[in-house]
Amino acid sequence: MNEKRDLTFALTKGRLADQTLELLSRVGISCREMEDKKTRKLIFRNEELGLCFFLAKGPDVPTYVEYGAADLGVTGRDIIAEEKRNVYEVLDLGFGKCRMCVCGPEKAKEALSRREMIRVATKYPRIAQDYFYNRRHQTVEIIKLNGSIELAPIVGLSEVIVDIVETGSTLKENGLAVLETVCDISARMIVNQVSMRMENERITGIISRLREVVNGV
Ligand code: PRP
Repeated sequence: MNEKRDLTFALTKGRLADQTLELLSRVGISCREMEDKKTRKLIFRNEELGLCFFLAKGPDVPTYVEYGAADLGVTGRDIIAEEKRNVYEVLDLGFGKCRMCVCGPEKAKEALSRREMIRVATKYPRIAQDYFYNRRHQTVEIIKLNGSIELAPIVGLSEVIVDIVETGSTLKENGLAVLETVCDISARMIVNQVSMRMENERITGIISRLREVVNGV
């Protein structure tokens, strides 16, 4: 008997998971078990479709997918670029849109334009390093932080930050501004490289159904 194995999805906890589940439901993929918001269960199964789903912290999603603990994953382009895991990025899902920016007080513009050796605080050291060294050809000191990045220039830890800007309200309320845009961000679907070969038909089937919905075909 040739029993199909479950395909496993790693989703990013929070709003991105809600938006992903909403999108999946539009192509007939749902998981009733996950609708119970109070559950402490970590992994959910839709037996009929042969699918499993689990929720993880964003930066862990590419790790689960690279190692094959999940066949597919959904997380932000920022995280995929920062983690640099060996996975296939197959689809822009069109939600979770924001920008990765260099931000700071207006007065930091001058040090940027003179390519001074400044300090850059960020949760994304790889993205910041790549931007300053390879695109701006500017040597900077990168300081890794884990959150509330906007604090850094306010308390004098760094001249600028590299961070996500969505509505811009965090910057505004703290007297900071976008100084330069590094790249646009949105949610992306990623796939394990071996799964893509072994389960090609099922996985590409899911991707093409999703693509049609995302592109409004
Ligand atoms: C993110 C980001 C900014 C903020 C941007 O932080 O790091 O601080 O959201 O959003 P806005 O432009 O809509 O104000 P998050 O809330 O994820 O928390 P963090 O500070 O712990 O990273």
